[in-house]
Parts: sequence; C-alpha cells; structure tokens
Amino acid sequence: MKGLLKFITCGSVDDGKSTLIGHMLYDAKLIFTDQKKALELDSKVGSRNGMLDYSLLLDGLMSEREQGITIDVAYRFFTTDNRSFIVADTPGHEEYTRNMAVGASFADLAVILVDASQGVLLQTKRHTRICAMMGIRHMVFAVNKMDLIFYDSARFEEISRQIKMLAAEFDFESLYIIPVSATEGDQLTEPSSNMPWFKGDTLLHYLENINVTDNEDSDGFYMPVQRVCRPDHTFRGFQGQVESGTINVGDEITVLPGKEKAKVKSLFCADKKTDQAIKGQAVTICIDREVDVSRGCVLYKDMSLSFSNMLSTSILWMDDKKLVEGKNYLLKLGTKIIPAVIMKIKYKVDINSGEHVPADQIYKNEIARCDISVNEKIVFDEFLKNRELGSFILIDRVTNMTSACGIVRHGLRRSENIIAYDMEITREIRSRQKDQKPVTLWFTGLSGSGKSTIANEVEKRLVAMNKHTMPLDGDNVRQGLNKNLGFKDQDRIENIRRIAEVSKLMNDAGLIVLTSFISPFISDRESAREIIGEDNFFEIYLSTSLEVCERRDVKGLYKKARNGEIPNFTGISSGYEPPVNPALIIDTDKCSVAEAADMVMELLFERSFEGE
Ligand code: ADX
Repeated sequence: MKGLLKFITCGSVDDGKSTLIGHMLYDAKLIFTDQKKALELDSKVGSRNGMLDYSLLLDGLMSEREQGITIDVAYRFFTTDNRSFIVADTPGHEEYTRNMAVGASFADLAVILVDASQGVLLQTKRHTRICAMMGIRHMVFAVNKMDLIFYDSARFEEISRQIKMLAAEFDFESLYIIPVSATEGDQLTEPSSNMPWFKGDTLLHYLENINVTDNEDSDGFYMPVQRVCRPDHTFRGFQGQVESGTINVGDEITVLPGKEKAKVKSLFCADKKTDQAIKGQAVTICIDREVDVSRGCVLYKDMSLSFSNMLSTSILWMDDKKLVEGKNYLLKLGTKIIPAVIMKIKYKVDINSGEHVPADQIYKNEIARCDISVNEKIVFDEFLKNRELGSFILIDRVTNMTSACGIVRHGLRRSENIIAYDMEITREIRSRQKDQKPVTLWFTGLSGSGKSTIANEVEKRLVAMNKHTMPLDGDNVRQGLNKNLGFKDQDRIENIRRIAEVSKLMNDAGLIVLTSFISPFISDRESAREIIGEDNFFEIYLSTSLEVCERRDVKGLYKKARNGEIPNFTGISSGYEPPVNPALIIDTDKCSVAEAADMVMELLFERSFEGE
C-alpha cells in the first residue's frame, strides 16, 4: 500500500470539482461505508430526470461535517485498497483564492479542473501559479466536461498543448493531463468507452499510484515550542508537536534562537514516559541543563534552520484593501506571531504571462515578491526545504483577517551583518541626568483639530517645570527630514514610521517628545507604539469633528481640498481611523486650549511624573 496522498482540487464554481470527487468516490464504492449513511445520502441525493447529482453526495457530507466549524477548507479523508487520501476541498465561490492557497499549502498534488469547452483560462493560470508558489510539485489537469464536446480527441489535444505550455514555466516533478467527464463518470475509476483514443490511467488509478515522496524532506528533527510546562520547581518541560524526524532520550539538541545545546533527559507522550518521539507526535521534552527556552523557540537536531529579521518572500495578497510599502501587519510563522513591515515590494507577477511587473501597490489575488522585516529575529527555513517553517500568513492588525499568505524564499543577509553596539551611556543614565522620565505624547487627529496648538501649550508648561522637551510637528518635519514624502498612503506610512523612530531616539536621549501628526491609520500608530514602547507612548486623540475643523480652516486647505485642488486630503478624500483605546480624548470644540493642556498635564502627573 502506498503512503498517504494529500491533494487539493482547484476550479471555479461551475467547473465541477465536487462532482468529480463525489462521482469518483461513488464509483469506487467508497462513500457508503455504513448503511445508515448510505440511506441518508440516498434520500438527500434523490434523482432528477433519473440522473444522480454527484456533487450533492459530497456537498451533503461537507455541510454535515462543517456544521459549527468555521474553517473554509474541508479536509476529506478516504481510503482505497491501495492508498489513503486526504483531499482539501475548497469552496469555489468568491473567496476561492484565499481558501485555495490555504489548501494548497498542505497538499502534495493538485487536481486542476479545466473546462473542455473553454480550455485554459486566466483562472487556470492563477490556480497553477498559486499551487506552484505554495510548493506543489505534482500536477494533474483534469480536462472536464468532455461529454459537452462529444469526447473530441482533437480538442483535448489542443487543450493539452495549452496546458503543457503553461506548465513549462514551472518545474513540476510530474504532470498528468486526463480527459474526464465528472457528471458521466468517464475515466474516473474505469477507462472510458467514450474515449477509446485515450490510453492513459484512470484518475483514481493515477492518484493511487503516483509517487510524491519528497526527496528533499530532511529527516532532521525539529519542534517549535508551544508551551513551557513548569508545574513545580522540579520539572521544566517543553511541549510541542514533532514537525519532522525523531527524537530520543540522550540526543543532543540545539535551541534557536540562542543556539545553546543540551541533551534530552526525558520524553513524555500523552503523560507517559517514553524513549522516543516521532514526527506528528505531541511531546514534552525535558533537557539536562538550564537553557533559555520560551514559546516560539525551536528545538532541533541534524538539520539547518535560519534565523533573521529580514525575509525575502513571495506573497499572495488576499485582502480587499491594497498592499502598499511600509504597511505593517502581524506575521504568523510556525507558532510565532510578530509585528512585521513590508519593506519593499520588488515586483508583482503577471498571472497570464508570469512576467515580473514593477509595482508599488498590490491588489487582491495578486502575487508579489516582497522584502519583509519583522520586529525581532525569527526562526525560519526556506520554503522549498521546509514547508512548515517556510510559510507564513500576514494578519491585518485592525480587522484580524488574514491579508496574505506567503513563503520564505530566503533570509536577507543584511540583517545578519548588522550587530547592535552596546553603548555604555544608556537611556537610563541620560534620563537620570535630566531628572525625568522620557515619554512620547502622540497627538493624532484631523488637520485643524488642534494638535500643534495643544502640543505647544503643553510644551510651554513642561519647560516651565524645567523639563527637557522636543516637539515634532507634521508641517515642520515635512519641510526637512520628510520633505521627500507626500500624502499617498505609503508616504504617510513612511512619515509615521520615521517619526516613531525619531521619537524613540529622542526618548533615548532622555527627552519628552510631543508629536503632532494626523497619523490617520490605526496600524501605523500601533506600530509607533511598539517602536517607542507601550509604557512611554501616550496616544492623545483630538476628536474635533470634521465640520468644526473645516469651519476653522486655519490654513485654507479644506477649501482647496473641496475644490479638488488637493488630492488625498484627510477627512475629504482620504480616511482617518480614530483610535480604539487612546490614553486621552480631547474635543477642542468643547474646551479651551488651557483646559485641553490641563487634561494632558493631568495625564502626565498620573501616569508619568508620579514617583519622580
Ligand atoms: S500624516 O497624515 O502623514 O500624519 P502630517 O501630519 O505629516 O500628515 O501632515 C499634515 C499636514 O500637512 C496638515 O496639517 C496640512 O497642513 C498639510 N497637508 C497638505 N496636504 C495634505 C493632505 N492631502 N492631507 C492632509 N494634510 C495635508
């Protein structure tokens, strides 16, 4: 018996994916494992004009299985005399690309449906490209609906040629093109009498016999640590699932990121002591020495893993919102979830031709090559060597939706060669010298909401108290450090990133910083909070309404914007996302400048000056 085959079916709504698998299972008598289910299904399927709708077989099973589960990909398990299979069936509707990519990341083989009456479509190319990107090396193209073209061999040959041309672009290990009819059952489990000209295997027979063993699958051991288990001071175990290889008591393992080594003292599987754990098992590992290990670390032996905070990646963008350079997300790789910034979009891939097209914005369903930097060094591997530690998703920080899935091409050396120098004069020494706690007061709100005015008033009061301060103001900084930036989303993102970094440096210098930037996007302010440090960052939201700001129109810019003279003007033609949980909210329509400054000072006395 051959090993397990994990595969995915790809096609759009009307391509007949469910019918194909449903009919194949039905013909192979695999569905009716118990009589009761058979009856249930029979009644569900019914017959229309004496014809069975095989897709109902599958969809019926699917909805039963999926009740109460919110995953988008249904994994179905079936087994024949020769092989076991798991097929990821992804719903074909609108969100298909997202689901397909998730399904593809787990599969060894893809069955791509091509409609015989239409041939290779853009969709087929997209599916093929995503499968290739997600590391699938074995492809089956099922040219479906042969009945609709009267089992015409010439047409099949023509479509085969189109498919071969498409596949030539990729380095697939195997490629099988097969004519089928999912509704009629041609060539699924039995050779079709309608297509005597086709001499190849049936679909099921082919799937039963294809060898997908991954030569590159290393037998090295590794396990991402999901939990450090410490019931009392005598026991310290690292829990996780063995992702690859085996581990024995006595083996020497290395811990990433620290690269410290230790020997395995004991192993537990399901609370039972054992001598060995293998791939797929959940295990608790105890080691013979005190080594710095926390969640997200990786234990490994006999393999190489990399460690960096800069990755060269390929991503599939799945968000309705476009991707622009500089935007930050949460990156989930292995068990680790960490803030990440898209540093550079190198190019996007033309779905049709595969060409690399220069781009600075990426839209839904596009594939792009990007450099991503993460907040701290993480453990990863190149996707081609290791799917688990070579693939990731990007999560939108505000909506928590998956914005992209991606694979690691390689780490970027740049980060390895930059090693921070530990200065002897520290931030603590500098701030002690100034006798103050350095913080950043981050004023955010629409243009004209009063950010600079209040920052100015607060700074005067701080200086009067002998505090050391520094204001950073949008209009001012944009005439110097940021004069190369405009008001497109990516420019604003970079504007805020630089200001956050400068604020941090000034805090390091021991100064109290007051920033007045519209900073319209939540994710950038969150990123600023991370750069500056949660404890030192006070987000002050000037909630003054658009009507009031526009009525004031101190600089006359709203008028110009309304006349169409200023593109992307915040509040008019560009958005503002109010903070969810700011330290302070001030509506300057309802209070005087002095009152607003009082509120800020109160905040500082409560949260920063106490104890000074
Ligand atoms: S931010 O969005 O990137 O944070 P920032 O605070 O630096 O903006 O700059 C905003 C100031 O630039 C406004 O107060 C206004 O005077 C000026 N400005 C010029 N064009 C625009 C625009 N399109 N949108 C908003 N502000 C603009």
